[in-house]
Amino acid sequence: MIITYANIEGFRNLSGIEINPDPKYNIISGLNAQGKTNLLEALWIMSGCKSFRSSKEKDYIAVSGNKMTVDINIIDNIREHRIHTEITRSNGNTRNIILNGVKQKGSKALFDVFRCIAFTPDDVDIIKGSPEKRRNFIDMASSQLNPSAVMHLNRHNRILNQRNALLKNIMNGKANPEILSTIDKQTAEEGAYISHMRYGYIRKINRICSNLYRTLSGGTENLEFEYKSNVYKAENLEMPVSQESYGIYFRKLQENSGYDIKTGTTHTGVNRDEILIKINGLPAKEYASQGQIKSTALVMKLAQAEIFMEKSDDSPVIFLDDVMGELDENRQKFIFDIIRNMQVFITTCNESALLPEIKGKIFRIHNGKLIGE
Ligand SMILES: Nc1ncnc2c1ncn2[C@@H]1O[C@H](COP(=O)(O)OP(=O)(O)OP(=O)(O)O)[C@@H](O)[C@H]1O
Ligand SMILES: [Mg+2]
Repeated sequence: MIITYANIEGFRNLSGIEINPDPKYNIISGLNAQGKTNLLEALWIMSGCKSFRSSKEKDYIAVSGNKMTVDINIIDNIREHRIHTEITRSNGNTRNIILNGVKQKGSKALFDVFRCIAFTPDDVDIIKGSPEKRRNFIDMASSQLNPSAVMHLNRHNRILNQRNALLKNIMNGKANPEILSTIDKQTAEEGAYISHMRYGYIRKINRICSNLYRTLSGGTENLEFEYKSNVYKAENLEMPVSQESYGIYFRKLQENSGYDIKTGTTHTGVNRDEILIKINGLPAKEYASQGQIKSTALVMKLAQAEIFMEKSDDSPVIFLDDVMGELDENRQKFIFDIIRNMQVFITTCNESALLPEIKGKIFRIHNGKLIGE
């Protein structure tokens, strides 16, 4: 799919941005702090995903303004879609989305319509950061493939918060421990779905990443992913979600509920999942070099693009924020070979650091405005 038109007004420091992107390469060039990443972020949020900078929606509105709007037109392999999104302070900072002229209830519908992948310097946190970063990556990637995952993830979050509040009340003698089993049934249903979803995605990404990484390392290194559930063994996850999977999850919660009540929080379940990433058999988080970490982040994102292609037979739009300057020529070539048929938006402070074959439209940005294509 490609973005054919974008209009951005009042989004962070951006104003009056109107572009007709190139179907292939789009270079967003400018000095530091001029609005390059903001431009990618404005396009990115049209996918329904949260900001890749993990900031709140109200921060999207220019500090000096009251309203932001982003409009994009995209073409997938079937038709054109028009997406309009706006956030106004007077409307309680809630996001208004209109898709092909029809007002939407939430951003969920966008997951199915506009698919994109962002490569950012923060991607290394997926490998180096807390287990939550890895869980978030898998959850977001799975949600882009299957929008109903968002509903399960939100529901699980809500139930887990209720469970933790209840545990505290039981601990303080303000609630009856018997209520816990009702909540545990609901936790088990959502938790079982999420465990299977994560296992399935990790299996896919493992297959693709290990091939990509072997090529990138000249055949010398081996990258593996392993889903560590504290509820299920791998053989449980080979089967589709069933009454039996709910039962296993439920019993595990109940078995450990004594300790949960003592501490007032839930220690068992998908909220404690870990995704182990290993290079040549050693955990990357502890052992990998800077270069290995960067390469791992890179192949994870490229694998995400390949999984999209397998699923929908259509390519996602690629955003490369400040990553090219960090990569040597071989790695740049490796990426561009894989994304050769996709529309790409690249930010850079230094146009000459890009590979000479990257030719397309150049959007120069200064103080939140375009200064000529
Ligand atoms: N809500 C907002 N209102 C107004 N300005 C904002 C808002 N949020 C961020 N900014 C400003 O936007 C500016 C540009 O940010 P952006 O991250 O897009 O820069 P950049 O061009 O990507 O720079 P770099 O090359 O350093 O990554 C920053 O100076 C920041 O203070
Ligand atoms: Mg930037």
